Amino acid sequence: MSKKSAKDTPREENPSVDAAVASDDAGRAEGPDAPKTDASGTKATSDAKVDATDEKATTGGDAGKPAATAKVTEAPRAAEPTTAPVLDKGENVLEVRDLVKHFPITQGIVLRRKVGAVQAVDGINLDLRRGETLGIVGESGCGKSTLAKLLIGLERPTSGTIKVRGQDLTELRGGDLLAARRNIQMVFQDPYTSLNPRMTVGDLIGEPFEIHTDVVPRQGRRQRVQELLELVGLNPDHINRYPHQFSGGQRQRIGIARALALEPEVLLCDEPVSALDVSIQAQVINLLEKLQDELGLSYLFIAHDLSVVRHIADKLGVMYLGRVVEYGNAEEIYEAPTHPYTQALLSAVPVPDPKLRGMRDEIVLEGDVPSPANPPSGCRFRTRCWKAEDVCAEETPLLQVRENSRHASACHFAQKRDVVHGAA
Ligand SMILES: Nc1ncnc2c1ncn2[C@@H]1O[C@H](COP(=O)(O)OP(=O)(O)OP(=O)(O)O)[C@@H](O)[C@H]1O
Ligand code: SF4
Ligand SMILES: [Mg+2]
Repeated sequence: MSKKSAKDTPREENPSVDAAVASDDAGRAEGPDAPKTDASGTKATSDAKVDATDEKATTGGDAGKPAATAKVTEAPRAAEPTTAPVLDKGENVLEVRDLVKHFPITQGIVLRRKVGAVQAVDGINLDLRRGETLGIVGESGCGKSTLAKLLIGLERPTSGTIKVRGQDLTELRGGDLLAARRNIQMVFQDPYTSLNPRMTVGDLIGEPFEIHTDVVPRQGRRQRVQELLELVGLNPDHINRYPHQFSGGQRQRIGIARALALEPEVLLCDEPVSALDVSIQAQVINLLEKLQDELGLSYLFIAHDLSVVRHIADKLGVMYLGRVVEYGNAEEIYEAPTHPYTQALLSAVPVPDPKLRGMRDEIVLEGDVPSPANPPSGCRFRTRCWKAEDVCAEETPLLQVRENSRHASACHFAQKRDVVHGAA
């Protein structure tokens, strides 16, 4: 891997993914009218106190706390959660083709009629291999979270396919869908609102076992939860504590433990560190990297902060208004982006070294991001692009590998541009 070493939601607010799937065949396409796009496209126990230094006591295994990698006794298991053979590194575990999500805009109170659509995700193609991290970046509102929600089944695609180990989730129903979904789990952005404050950590992490009852037998669940706590660098003795008794970084570890409960191969991480202090961000990123190495996990890692993604991503997808505009090897895109939008984003990343800062040409993007309900014709970036010509309004540039570059770019005039970076 080319990575650089560095380095759920109140249940009332966000429905459990599995519960949603269990109660409803999520993943169904919304209808044949879906537009086809070009493919480029609380009570807490009063005596339990949080250690003020808990963040330190995590991956390193502080005194009084077991090391994250400490060996624990195996809990009895009913069955191996993933019965399919382990994929080789390099095999696709997730394949997304022509994925579209248009949210209808309706008018009228009694007779609601569709008057338009928010084109949140519009023809996305992605591959994720075993053990690989795909970073997804883009401005607010470009469809990153909608993409993740489609993959996890919290939203139904308008059209397109989502294959996990070759099985198309959009075609599965009932028990088959539930079983396939087990393999793809999500770490949410905000560890403060994503954990039900009235549930103990043990109940939060063990909740997926209530739905997927065959994963761990009832009598072994507590022990399995304690193993998961250790795996993410938390003290297994804190199983009966409540979320408010943990710091932000520790809560995110609880979110990660919960996501790992069903032993998925794919973790979708939607801005998993952006709500945390900078000092804690690196610890959580390090934990994710450690887990990836130990468990062979594949990550789809969504972030605003391009420097965070650079640390962790093998591959990068840059999104603009619902489409991927540049896609390929992360290091290559960071060093020599070919799409004007990526070039602008990278030129705005702060450079700590003042000498290097002087060598940097910052590209200031003018104008606002257009509405996804009424995106520009042709290239969606054209209203803000300094290189735009007539053809950009007439022809949608396909996301393809262009001359003099090894990665794909959706620009008629894609051209490498060197970017001055600070220390990564
Ligand atoms: N349920 C919904 N109904 C209608 N529009 C929606 C819905 N969910 C998202 N959208 C719209 O889809 C677009 C993409 O939203 P999304 O949350 O995926 O963006 P994002 O890239 O995750 O942004 P951010 O970086 O701010 O989290 C936005 O214009 C948003 O308003
Ligand atoms: S296709 Fe045209 S408008 Fe779009 S990014 Fe390329 S040059 Fe700019
Ligand atoms: Mg989002």
